Amino acid sequence: MARGKFIVSTNFKMNGSRAFLQDLVENLNRADLDSNVGTITIPSQLSNLRKDIAVGGQNCFWKSSGAYTGEISAEMLKDAGAEYVILGHTERRTLFKESDSLIGFKVASALAAGLKVIACIGETLSERESNTTLQVLFRQLQAIVDHVQDLNQEEKWEDVVIAYEPVWAIGTGRVATPEQAQVVHAAIRRRVEETVEGSVAEGMRIIYGGSVNLGNARQLAREKDVDGLFVGGASLKPEFVEICNVLRLAGEGNSDGSGDDDGGRK
Ligand code: PGA
Repeated sequence: MARGKFIVSTNFKMNGSRAFLQDLVENLNRADLDSNVGTITIPSQLSNLRKDIAVGGQNCFWKSSGAYTGEISAEMLKDAGAEYVILGHTERRTLFKESDSLIGFKVASALAAGLKVIACIGETLSERESNTTLQVLFRQLQAIVDHVQDLNQEEKWEDVVIAYEPVWAIGTGRVATPEQAQVVHAAIRRRVEETVEGSVAEGMRIIYGGSVNLGNARQLAREKDVDGLFVGGASLKPEFVEICNVLRLAGEGNSDGSGDDDGGRK
């Protein structure tokens, strides 16, 4: 399985008026974006976005329809034009008490509906300080692996992106160092190799999220196992466009858009 393009994704969360977001969209629409980077917008609401930027939902339920007031199904997101959905974000896990298993169900149902999934995993500060980071991440990952394997369609793994988002780095301004991110991303890849398959692990995009900004994006993107960036707060600022062009900034991408699918980045 060939690794796809480097990804830069927004996560607007529950932010922005229509007017504010329209300004962001216009800024993105005007931008000269590196075609070696797959840009994704996960909006709270939006319209008139250029067509080469994929759109995703921030959540979905695991049933396709029914009496589930307040929920939206993967089929509905797809029908509305979404290509991606974020699942398992720490804000869903903590504020809305979503369990590993529920997230596993959601991931499988989103894939079955034809969406691509950005599945988030991450440890808290106390888990990191008590040296249980990998134990926690592997537990969260296993619930996802089990449900995707239940689909019995190996090609669905191509539609799974894992976002490593240390909880202590989200919205705190305390970003993981490139070295910390690399160690964890490599460990996640090894774990996927052990629990799924070598070619799936090799092809899987593992992206980093948590206080990414223009100042730290380039160093993070240089790490071998960092295949993209998931950007919350900074995606609501004009600098997001420059983060999308991080590979160009780092002088590592083929800015003419030629080359293989991963942009010959690493
Ligand atoms: P942040 O959010 O970039 O504001 O830390 C990241 C996220 O929650 O995905």
